[in-house]
Amino acid sequence: MELVIGNSPLLEANGISKSFDYQLFQDLSIRLYSKQSVSVMGRSGTGKSTLLHILSTLLKPDSGSVKILDKDIYNLSSAEIERIRRDNIGIIFQSHYLFKGMSVLENIESATLLSNTDIDRELFKMLEIEDIINKKVGDISGGQQQRVSIARVLSKKPKIIFADEPTGNLDRATADLVMEALNNYIIDNKAALFLVTHDDEIANKTQKLYQLESKKLNIR
Ligand SMILES: Nc1ncnc2c1ncn2[C@@H]1O[C@H](COP(=O)(O)OP(=O)(O)OP(=O)(O)O)[C@@H](O)[C@H]1O
Ligand SMILES: [Mg+2]
Repeated sequence: MELVIGNSPLLEANGISKSFDYQLFQDLSIRLYSKQSVSVMGRSGTGKSTLLHILSTLLKPDSGSVKILDKDIYNLSSAEIERIRRDNIGIIFQSHYLFKGMSVLENIESATLLSNTDIDRELFKMLEIEDIINKKVGDISGGQQQRVSIARVLSKKPKIIFADEPTGNLDRATADLVMEALNNYIIDNKAALFLVTHDDEIANKTQKLYQLESKKLNIR
């Protein structure tokens, strides 16, 4: 059962197919509603990251459509896609991209300046990075960098968050607090979360669990 019946989805993908050396998926469909979180698991190489890129405006599928906030994104001009990406979408990549020579705070400010949002200090507390905000990114640990990149994305206040193994480098307790921050964020902001993970416990903290296999998204 979908969470919000009658509401239009924030994300709606229909009939997606994509091949590189081999076909990754065929005629795949998914919807994502406000306040909903979904996770996708699956073997390495099945195409989870590729699917995340297709759903998040970064990669055009071979066929099928992706609608974000009712806009058919791969039929828009690049300026319009750019605007949707900037204003509505937050992507947490499998490897994080921060400016190493800048402080944690400057990294987060660079995101909020672009999106015209205020920095949410609560977020620093929730992600347990409040004590390191003045340190240079090059001087903090890998797991801390991961949490900073999550804070950076959430600070833009996106409507849909796409997260590719956001807890990959983290211990259990830290992974749990990251998931709590993401889940709180989507409830507070009526946003949605599309999460790729190899971690069963993390997947279990989302509302809907999918397995990518045999070129399809199957409910687990
Ligand atoms: N830009 C590209 N050009 C060519 N092949 C690609 C490209 N991107 C991905 N692939 C191929 O598509 C397949 C799926 O890659 P993808 O990164 O989506 O897998 P994944 O499910 O995220 O794996 P993992 O769990 O290891 O992160 C791989 O065989 C990969 O080599
Ligand atoms: Mg991947």
